[in-house]
Amino acid sequence: MSISVYQLTKLYDEQKAVDNISFDVAAGEILGFLGPNGAGKSTTMKILTGYIPQTSGTAIVCGFDVKKQSMDVRKNIGYLPEHNPLYHEMYVKEFLRFIADLHKITNKQKRIAEMIELTGLSVEQHKKIGQLSKGYRQRTGLAAALIHNPKVLILDEPTTGLDPNQIVEIRSLIKNIGQNKTVILSTHIMQEVQAMCNRVVIINKGNIVADDKIERLQQLNKSAKIFMVELDKAINKNDWKNIDGLKQAVALGANKWRLTSSDDIRNQIFDFAVKNNCVLLSLQEEKQSLEDVFRQLTQAVEAE
Ligand SMILES: Nc1ncnc2c1ncn2[C@@H]1O[C@H](COP(=O)(O)OP(=O)(O)OP(=O)(O)O)[C@@H](O)[C@H]1O
Ligand SMILES: [Mg+2]
Repeated sequence: MSISVYQLTKLYDEQKAVDNISFDVAAGEILGFLGPNGAGKSTTMKILTGYIPQTSGTAIVCGFDVKKQSMDVRKNIGYLPEHNPLYHEMYVKEFLRFIADLHKITNKQKRIAEMIELTGLSVEQHKKIGQLSKGYRQRTGLAAALIHNPKVLILDEPTTGLDPNQIVEIRSLIKNIGQNKTVILSTHIMQEVQAMCNRVVIINKGNIVADDKIERLQQLNKSAKIFMVELDKAINKNDWKNIDGLKQAVALGANKWRLTSSDDIRNQIFDFAVKNNCVLLSLQEEKQSLEDVFRQLTQAVEAE
């Protein structure tokens, strides 16, 4: 395992920001780390990078204990923090030289040039960091996180605040880099997880509520099936009542319905249309979106 987290807990005074969590990340995996605001994602990431100490439990990165072998962990890890705190008065190259010095990189000039090329910073490389747009600051942060060629990357919301073009570019950059590395990335964008990650860990109030492959998560709520139905004429909501196993019927338009049931009720929907002298214009089962799964796992159940 590239990363092993075991019974990790972090207390800020009385508050348990991370509550006894355990998970592993295999070498080469890109893990999406999801959770609502305040769930404990950044806290976990800061512990993994040796930025703050845990209260209890262990975290091992590339075979090194984050608490006891912090220097070895730092050599193996590249970290893009949540607010990417760069030095605004420094020039891009000056900053990368500074980071390269911290890592005692020998062939500095060459490595800096490679990172500038890799992260698409060439055009902006002579500017001060404070003059860069958000996307280019993010690229500078990535270049700094990658300069020592770490085996593991910890990226805390790497695309937050970027425009759609920059998001696509940074995403493909991370995916590219991630081919040879282990990556944990936190995000609030579900599309991003679907586009980039092999696996997802969802954390809520400091606890892990899901740890699975995306396709498996989408099948999580097997007891609820969703059918989208379109009829050729309007019917009354109460008419749906006769269908066994139907939990909910929501009108989406005059003749369109979203039906939720515990079983496969397609046959019954067909019969229903015949009995009511309607033509069934369309009938489709809907896959749960990752957003639905996320909300189910991280929100208190709302009363119907
Ligand atoms: N230095 C700190 N002192 C006190 N409480 C803190 C500190 N850092 C974080 N917390 C608290 O710990 C909890 C978890 O915070 P954390 O930053 O890990 O959440 P997050 O999942 O990264 O959220 P977001 O999606 O908003 O970035 C929050 O309630 C937060 O207020
Ligand atoms: Mg955070």
